[in-house]
Amino acid sequence: MDSTVDPAAPILLFDSGVGGLSVLAEVRKALPAAPVIYVADNAGLPYGSKTEAQIAARVCGLLGRLAERYAPRLICIACNTASTIALGMVRDVLHVPVVGTVPAIKPAAALTRTGTIGLLGTQATIRQAYVDQLEAEFAQGKRLLRFGAPELVAAAEAKLRGQPVDPEVYRRAARGLRDQPGGDDIDTVVLACTHFPLLADELAEVFGPGVSFVDGAAGIARRIAFLTQGQDFLRREPDLALFTRDGETLETLRPALAAAGLERTGVLD
Ligand code: DGL
Repeated sequence: MDSTVDPAAPILLFDSGVGGLSVLAEVRKALPAAPVIYVADNAGLPYGSKTEAQIAARVCGLLGRLAERYAPRLICIACNTASTIALGMVRDVLHVPVVGTVPAIKPAAALTRTGTIGLLGTQATIRQAYVDQLEAEFAQGKRLLRFGAPELVAAAEAKLRGQPVDPEVYRRAARGLRDQPGGDDIDTVVLACTHFPLLADELAEVFGPGVSFVDGAAGIARRIAFLTQGQDFLRREPDLALFTRDGETLETLRPALAAAGLERTGVLD
């Protein structure tokens, strides 16, 4: 046992909104006893339309405050946009293990039979050098088509609040990839935004049979389990969902949060 870690110290998951709940679901499977604080920077949502400098400043600043206040044993940046831009910087300034979320290009490259992979992310994620590096390293000889789909972020936020979503949003995302040269050959789609696995059924329908979807959530959960091996877990109080802005939105989200095991909500002051 690792007696240096307080058993009640939480694992802190961070996203701009509800997307990180797709990662939390896998963390729950791997570590059901782990106390969790889920932080949604809803005051900063969406990250995908912000500049690199805005995202880096926001994420580093918030995680610094959160680490000081909640003393987590580990931080998971459950957001591709924040991770592909700020993971290195956050690791440089915080003395706590930080696990990031990066587009699952490697498993997609292993899975594709046609050699053509689609990647759906935010506008900020798809332009990152980090994605270019993953492509060069793991998808050599394959074709990677990228599409920025901010509408899907809004759709996932609405879905989890029980609000209706125009199905045309999903069709537009599929067309964004299919209409590119070679797009008809796509058989594997990387969901490179943590909001998108929350729309897995809707996306499967518009892409049709024969297309597989991959995301990084299960791999992240395995990594967190590895890094916390030998540590004790003690949940002293119900897990907390923390937001950076108050509003009606917290009330409408309560059922989805409770389903994710987040029984308490709060606003970061
Ligand atoms: N969930 C975030 C991601 O994985 C981004 C959503 C946003 O645009 O804020 O990229």
